[in-house]
Amino acid sequence: MMHKNQPTKIRENVPLAPLTTFGTGGPARFFLSAETIKDVQEGLIFADRKRLAVFILGGGSNVVVSDNGFPGLVLQIVPKGIRCEADADSIRLSVAAGEVWDDIVAYAVERDWWGIENLTAIPGNCGAVAIQNVGAYGQEAADVIEAVTVLDRKDGDIKTLSAEECQFAYRESIFNRSAKDRYIIWETHFRLSRKGQAHTGYPDVRSYLQERQITHPTPREMRTAISAIRARKFADPATIGTAGSFFKNIYISEAQFLDLAKKVASISPPEVLDKLQRVRERFSSESGIKIPTAFLIDQVCGLKGHRIGGAQVSPTQALAIINPEKRATGTEVQQLIKHVQTVVREKTGLEIELEPALVGFS
Ligand code: EPU
Repeated sequence: MMHKNQPTKIRENVPLAPLTTFGTGGPARFFLSAETIKDVQEGLIFADRKRLAVFILGGGSNVVVSDNGFPGLVLQIVPKGIRCEADADSIRLSVAAGEVWDDIVAYAVERDWWGIENLTAIPGNCGAVAIQNVGAYGQEAADVIEAVTVLDRKDGDIKTLSAEECQFAYRESIFNRSAKDRYIIWETHFRLSRKGQAHTGYPDVRSYLQERQITHPTPREMRTAISAIRARKFADPATIGTAGSFFKNIYISEAQFLDLAKKVASISPPEVLDKLQRVRERFSSESGIKIPTAFLIDQVCGLKGHRIGGAQVSPTQALAIINPEKRATGTEVQQLIKHVQTVVREKTGLEIELEPALVGFS
């Protein structure tokens, strides 16, 4: 039944599982596929009047929906379109939120533009890229985002925020921290370069290139390399339910590292402690010592492949929880998340933070 003042585009009880790459969960009470800013504004007014919570959905690659679905309004942002302004050295590429991210990487790489080639084969839409400052193989969206055009839910205005205003950090920005839920990303402006230097520092990348004797890779060669490397580790959303990494990596202090090393020495074989020392050398930075959470889940806690019902810690990349037969319930996923966090806490003393958004869970 149509509600009073309900914009005609709003649908009711729309199943969300098929709109996410993970493939779990119930319906959205209300659902609006927003093609224009006007659609978004109408949706927000409707939600406000009915006092409904709003969830902004993009490509659905970083969300897990609860079995009960979402009791409010899901606003799916769908506009497509790209604009380029080129000068002698660089290109400003402005991309609408509904564009598929990997299509944009392909577009840039085909033109030999540098800056996002290592972010190949990451599922999702462009609107989400700035939110969690997507990163992989030594590249980060923040390195090339110049500005983000948003709709400010506070006053309904369209604004363009500079990269500085976005306050990017590891998997972080104001969009998932201090101003969470305030802005709806409409367009992202990237600054790409005509001349560049490949980021080949990751061991997987280095060995791939060495085996093929590629010494000066082009953006295209980097894209091919990353595609092949990712295909070995990350599930293909076309066949398996996945939302990429489920946990963030951890940055710890020297004192915490010593404590961790002690704990690992007491529960793991010496090879694991050796590996921990090597990880430390490889990943130390100003923000602290980076501990790959996949290493803790897999090699310290032995949870790779662990299952609860239809949900499984990926047997090929322990940072991911997957839904291999697409029959996991939201509850099973939540139980598996809790189990992994608890075992990691008990064995290492470290808290691991969730990476995807959980929708409709209490
Ligand atoms: N490792 C294991 N077991 C595993 C996987 C990894 O022990 O099952 C250890 C290895 O020693 C490896 C280390 O963990 O050296 C790090 O693994 P890897 O380089 O494969 O990547 P990651 O740190 O686990 C991050 C991103 C990914 C991104 C890759 C590649 C986060 C949360 N994840 O994973 O991003 O693709 O690096 O650069 O930062 C995502 O965010 O959804 C995502 C897929």
